[in-house]
Parts: sequence; C-alpha cells; structure tokens
Amino acid sequence: MKLSVLVSGSGTNLQEIIDATQDGRLPNTEIIKVIADRECYALERAGIAHIPYQMIPRGKDFQSQLLQAIPSESDYIVLAGFLSILAPEFIQKWEGKIINIHPSLLPKYGGKGMYGIHVHRAVIENEEKESGATVHFVTEGIDEGEILLQEALEIPKNTTAQNLANKVHEVEYRILISALQQLEK
Ligand code: GRF
Repeated sequence: MKLSVLVSGSGTNLQEIIDATQDGRLPNTEIIKVIADRECYALERAGIAHIPYQMIPRGKDFQSQLLQAIPSESDYIVLAGFLSILAPEFIQKWEGKIINIHPSLLPKYGGKGMYGIHVHRAVIENEEKESGATVHFVTEGIDEGEILLQEALEIPKNTTAQNLANKVHEVEYRILISALQQLEK
C-alpha cells in the first residue's frame, strides 16, 4: 500500500506511520511522499526517514500544485495534521482514497475552525465528560466523511486543553495505525 502523507505541523502522527512501517505493524505499507503546506518539523522527519518530500507554500496555484504533487501510484492520501482545506477537484479526483485524523469524537467538534487546540478548548468549555479521536474519509463537507474508526477517552477533572491534547494524541496514533491496517488488507 503506497501512501502520500500531507502535513502542516510537528508530524508526530506521520512519525507513528513511519515507525509502524518499520516495526512490522504495517508490513505492506510504504510512504512514497510527504507534502507540507508550510515549513514544519514534519518535513524533517520525512528527510530523516529518507522519504521524498515537498513543500508547497499556500497562495496562488497552491491547489493545482498540490494536485500535481501527489504521485499517481498513491493508494491512499493521509491527512496527518494538514491544515489547508482541499479543493473540490482534489477531493473528486481522489474520492474514497483520502483519510483524515481528527482530534474529537466526530460529528462533535468538527468543521471550520475546529482544529488543534481549539477543539480541546471547546470540549473543556462545554464540560464534556469524554472526548477522543476519529479517522474518517475526506469528502467536500469538512470533517463529514464516513468514519473508519473512533475511540473515546474519559476527560479527567480539572484538566487543561494542552493535557487533553496530549491524551487525545495517544488515541490518534493508535487508531490511525489500526485504520491503515484495515486498509492494508
Ligand atoms: C493532530 O491533533 C491531528 O488530529 C490534527 O492535527 C494534529 C497533528 O499533530 N488534525 P501532529 O503534527 O501529527 O503531531
């Protein structure tokens, strides 16, 4: 299974996939390209792992360059902390082949503006009892595609958004690899 992985940040989810391809959890998976929409540590992780990578700055022609940058032999495109919204043409071309990891129990806390720490702040402000992470297929509606896997966790009392983010990250790593194992079969 050949993956292209899109990133914008520190890339710990990317690292988890890299590790899983090397330690036997994803024996038939190869990351063939990492693409970022900004300078970020995730690109260094790709370099260290000898995976081809490319940075496409946001701005004029971003969407067409992004579409061109995806190797045609990719079986799936993984959004691993990718902060740009994909154009409808992109999603139509790769329909059913794009998956995203989101740090909440979708459909709760999804949609525009709901990313990163904003999600966890909102969850805590609303005094939710549980949160979690979701791996889903990407469609044109933001965070609305079919759910592949979801796992919940109980929110400790008096926790901070950052602590919750750390806990949710652990869930993300687990379900992202499980989802890829499902797709690998
Ligand atoms: C994760 O919380 C992911 O769910 C969200 O962006 C964050 C990326 O973290 N979409 P990292 O770059 O993989 O460390």
